[in-house]
Amino acid sequence: MHSVWTRANTVLTLFGTVAAVLCLLTTGTDLLHKPDPKVKLGLRDVRRLVQHNGGREHAAVTFDLDADLRSVFTWNTKQLFVYVQAEYETSENRVNQIVMWDSIVQQQDKAHVRLNNHKTKYAFIDPGRNLRGRSLNLTLVWCVMPRVGRMYSQQSTHYVGKLPASYVH
Ligand SMILES: *[C@@H]1O[C@H](CO)[C@@H](O)[C@H](O)[C@H]1NC(C)=O
Repeated sequence: MHSVWTRANTVLTLFGTVAAVLCLLTTGTDLLHKPDPKVKLGLRDVRRLVQHNGGREHAAVTFDLDADLRSVFTWNTKQLFVYVQAEYETSENRVNQIVMWDSIVQQQDKAHVRLNNHKTKYAFIDPGRNLRGRSLNLTLVWCVMPRVGRMYSQQSTHYVGKLPASYVH
């Protein structure tokens, strides 16, 4: 005798199994998928490098980005969360990371991101006075948010030279 409850239970179990199988398939597919992202990232211009009240240094910079992330997309990719961060080393901190720009990419055909002489979206402020003459890396990070399975991220780091040794007004 199959009561309504038993039937409902059976259906739920089946859904659970299908989801588990999908997850396994996804993991397999993603392991086989070898993306070939192409990233060019550079510092274009330092328009200002000044001291704010309180002494913190603030840089107004522009950057160039040509990131072809279309190969990162698979049928299981929901979206990419993409951001650019500046990285530098000071005597206080071995790694300082400051996010300068971010974006969400939801379609494969929009995953070739080109920004030219682009202003940062977020302020580039050092908590101290550490920006002048500082060697700088810019890193593009892309977080892959899948439809099924775990999120993961990859990145591409570029040394972009030193910031000016004195203030730029
Ligand atoms: C900058 O990038 C280089 C090369 O990838 C790396 O060796 C260095 O540790 C990076 N510096 C910082 C502060 O992240």
